[in-house]
Amino acid sequence: MTSIEPSARLKALPRYLFAELERKRAEAEAAGREVIDLSIGDPDLPTPPAILERIAEAGRDPANHRYPTSAGMAAARTEIAAWFERRYGVALDPRREIAVLVGSKEGIGHFPLALLDPGDEAIVPDPGYPVYAAGTVFAGATPVRYALREANGFRPDPAALDGLVTPRSRVVWVNYPNNPTGATATLPDYEAIVSWAARRGLIVASDAAYGELYYDAPPPSVLQVSAARERAIEFHSFSKTFNMTGWRLGFAVGAPPLIDALVRLKANLDSGAPQAIQIAAAGALTSLLPTHGPALRAVYRERRDTAIDALHRLGCPIRPPGGAFYLWGRVPEGETSIDFAGRVFEKTGVLLTPGVGFGAEGEGYFRIALTSSVESISKALRNIEALAPWKASHASASPSPR
Ligand SMILES: Cc1ncc(COP(=O)(O)O)c(C=O)c1O
Repeated sequence: MTSIEPSARLKALPRYLFAELERKRAEAEAAGREVIDLSIGDPDLPTPPAILERIAEAGRDPANHRYPTSAGMAAARTEIAAWFERRYGVALDPRREIAVLVGSKEGIGHFPLALLDPGDEAIVPDPGYPVYAAGTVFAGATPVRYALREANGFRPDPAALDGLVTPRSRVVWVNYPNNPTGATATLPDYEAIVSWAARRGLIVASDAAYGELYYDAPPPSVLQVSAARERAIEFHSFSKTFNMTGWRLGFAVGAPPLIDALVRLKANLDSGAPQAIQIAAAGALTSLLPTHGPALRAVYRERRDTAIDALHRLGCPIRPPGGAFYLWGRVPEGETSIDFAGRVFEKTGVLLTPGVGFGAEGEGYFRIALTSSVESISKALRNIEALAPWKASHASASPSPR
């Protein structure tokens, strides 16, 4: 058998965390064990029927059977621009400041190839969504990690970032509402990061995939900072907003040279997102989001509050997130995140994500995705209660304030 080696750049990456979890789950299920999977951020709820009907209708039109354009349909970009102005008060030029993506991950993963040269550096959050670093490695560039610390509300601290800048630094990534911590950013946070990036001559890449999942005030866009219009790109997604992870649609907004570079790259790699999906999803920003958004947020709020109450009863110190659909809690003292998640899975069949999978700074934490019903979440936490993992290590610790 010929031995075929993958590329050095592929070998440089750790195995994608979720592929490992998927494997664990499949093994346990094959052995007949009941698994409650709280590890993967993939909505359990279906795509709204109105979107499905629109996809079916647009799918029957032969005009939508041909190659789409790489930048996305003009009509979809116009819908996105109108929504962006309503939502954030920022008027975008649909021709120069918006590109449609085959899911935001596609844009996030490809953007470094459009921006970075070998040897360049990208400053990425730790803990963080792994694709910022993976895309950077694929571009032959180097990810340089900055710590998101609980004491700072998991928000970047420009003073600490300063020490990471070198002459090869090109871009800093930010992600709010944040995966995995659930932290949200305020407009002053974005102002601080943009003015810091401007002083350092860096591009700001913002991942707002969870922008419509929030529990308090609607989170801002980095493009609300006027100086960001010339140095930022922001990635948005239909996946979580409309339970559309399987349909693959997102978009990027931002400085025209950044959008142009991404579209030129994409023209060589993909031929755009399916038009029927663009039509249905972009249209839903106007026709559906005003009613669907609040209903979706109410579902996640109930799950979040149920899980937080149960975790507090277990003695787990955990704070309610401001956005996204994740809980980020501390593992019992003296245990690594991998050991803890492994022990919980072995003893209870509940799959949690070990924090270290999001970077070294995630050590000491675990992540719960609220993408299961209230009943499953409650059952999972009842199973974990039998282990009493925090009772021993935090015997004297009182629950964090709500
Ligand atoms: C922070 C973050 N950004 C982007 C994505 C990608 O989403 P999609 O490609 O479905 O738009 C995810 C998916 O989990 C995510 O967690």
